Amino acid sequence: MTGDHSLHIVSLALGGCLRGEPVAYGITEDTGGHIAYILGEMRALAAHGAVTQAEIVTRLFDAPELGAIHGCAHEPLGPKLSITRIDSGNRAYLAKEALAADRDAFARAFITHLRARDRLPDLIHAHFADAADVAARVRRELGIPFIYTAHSLGIDKRDCAMAPRDTPTLQARIAEEDAAIARADAIVASSVDECERQLPAYPSADAARIHRLRPGVDMTVPDAAARAGAAAMIAPFLRHADRPIVLAVARPVAKKNLVALVEAFGRDPRLRHRANLVLLAGLRKGLVGGEPEQDRVLSGIADAIDRHDLHGHVAWPRNHSRDEVQALYALARDSGGVFVNPALTEPYGLTLIEAASHGLPVVATCRGGPADIVGELENGLLVEPTDRAEIANAVRTLIEDRPLWLRASNSGREGVRSMGWDRYASGFVALAREVTGRVVANRAVMPVPRALALCDIDNTLTGCAEGARRLSAYLARHRDTVFGVATGRSILEAQRVLREWSLPFPSVWVTSVGSEIYWQRGEDRIADHDYARSLARGWDGDAVHDALRDLPTLTPQGRSEQREFKRSYFLHDPARLAQVRERLDRAGLKTRVIFSHEKLLDILPVEGGKAAAMRHVATTLGLTPEDVFAAGDSGNDIDMLTDCRNAILVGNHAPELARLSERDNVYLTRRHHAGGTLEGIVAHRFARRRGVAA
Ligand code: GLC
Ligand code: MG
Repeated sequence: MTGDHSLHIVSLALGGCLRGEPVAYGITEDTGGHIAYILGEMRALAAHGAVTQAEIVTRLFDAPELGAIHGCAHEPLGPKLSITRIDSGNRAYLAKEALAADRDAFARAFITHLRARDRLPDLIHAHFADAADVAARVRRELGIPFIYTAHSLGIDKRDCAMAPRDTPTLQARIAEEDAAIARADAIVASSVDECERQLPAYPSADAARIHRLRPGVDMTVPDAAARAGAAAMIAPFLRHADRPIVLAVARPVAKKNLVALVEAFGRDPRLRHRANLVLLAGLRKGLVGGEPEQDRVLSGIADAIDRHDLHGHVAWPRNHSRDEVQALYALARDSGGVFVNPALTEPYGLTLIEAASHGLPVVATCRGGPADIVGELENGLLVEPTDRAEIANAVRTLIEDRPLWLRASNSGREGVRSMGWDRYASGFVALAREVTGRVVANRAVMPVPRALALCDIDNTLTGCAEGARRLSAYLARHRDTVFGVATGRSILEAQRVLREWSLPFPSVWVTSVGSEIYWQRGEDRIADHDYARSLARGWDGDAVHDALRDLPTLTPQGRSEQREFKRSYFLHDPARLAQVRERLDRAGLKTRVIFSHEKLLDILPVEGGKAAAMRHVATTLGLTPEDVFAAGDSGNDIDMLTDCRNAILVGNHAPELARLSERDNVYLTRRHHAGGTLEGIVAHRFARRRGVAA
């Protein structure tokens, strides 16, 4: 990276027909939404002041029927924005296995191409796991870091109903995605669901490297000509062209569940006589002769239309342009219609946001990203995609309940205003700076730290409002004492509790029983990747879970308490603790077993825990063990209070810590809660000045 922090960013994707507009979406199975994402992303990055170059890199191929442009090595798209096409030696258009087989050659050609340059890009954004694999090789050879975006994850495909389960192809795909997750410097996903449920389901996922950036939405308003074109495109199919349009836009793949939509429409007598169904299911030459999955879906649609006598009620044109899609959203809105995404699982759901931007209410699958989009935009109804009656009901409700329709239409349009690609670009640039600079940014904004006060939260800082107020005031006066928390809670819960007690946010957060560390920088929190990496070695949370399965009186804590490097349970019979240890030993698992309040059981990597996190934080801040104060009250504080030279045991501590008060390094406070913590810090300070133990 250059001194002025300017960035040259490469966006890398191997499959599909990637080109500047007009893109023929759906022309091949791989020419899908990720292309709209890449073009939107790179246009916005090119317009960002910190970016010197936004370069899209893809495969070069000669297939005139797909567009001559794909044979051009260089396609300029605007100032600072271009496409570079790499010739792997095989100039055919490739999909699936053939594309995978070409990957080595592509990677070699790309690396050779980069080596010939005067200046290397600063960062690669890899789209899909195959591009991530190429990017990982580039990083190994040339040292360019990379960000991975999955777009759609195999694990979710495997777990969704009706999809073929666990085929070898799917297993290979999941393994490849896991490798991408393991090797990427950062992972960017679009929805909360991807960040908090889908990605964490992979063994190599590390929450600290997962970031959410909301993609922007193309807000072009279609002109009269485009609308006339779109109307003319569907008119020949429909007997009553004036009815509300129920619109679906999706590639003809099984996962998108389009046949179920036709079925739902056909089986609902009211709906089929009130509305028209319009399907934009990719681009096709005919019903056969395409890729096998596409042929299957198309014949399924044709069959459903036929069986339910839907001729004249369903329009499904063979071809459409991007402009016509935009125009159809607008036509559907003007008709009082609805957009439907019935996918069995949808990683994000960009089309739902597009629909919202046109003021078209949606009915969307409850599986995956749509739940957060619809939750956030309040632009429609969620449905269980396998329940056809539920889909039909929701569509009919929106069409018939005009006030509901209007609320969804307005709310969607309003909400989308804040979802511009420019915001995405700002977020991406901030992340790119972190990834390329690898700074623990917090150090820059703190005064030179002289000490660290690391405090447990529950019952150590909480419990007495007046004490909390006095401690806060003390910390505000002593800025050279870095304030940190070390809690069993997750980062989000820790934040909530500090807010509720009007305690300041710390400079460093040790959370989930010392299995996660975050550095606070202004509004941002930066996960400590080094620490996470040190815990990842040899840790296998699922194996922990398996080893403890069916142990009497042991029940898992809630889902949000099961973290990357922490498995938590309620153990109702403390006498069984020995059995817990025994089982973990027998399974050959090296873990740290932590027991608090006679019932809360945490299993962590052996290198984890509050003490380990405390040492890591102190080292990162350049402090010696003498400079650290640590305060706590219960079981999960034991390792930290044992290890810390200036340990503080608050007067209200749990009985399980009583023995600690006899140790020389531990100061037992008279006061309780935050007042006790403050008393301890002051006492240790005083003792240090006088050179005696407190
Ligand atoms: C916090 C955590 C919980 C853990 C407990 C003891 O309450 O939320 O998961 O078991 O601390 O460490
Ligand atoms: Mg506590």
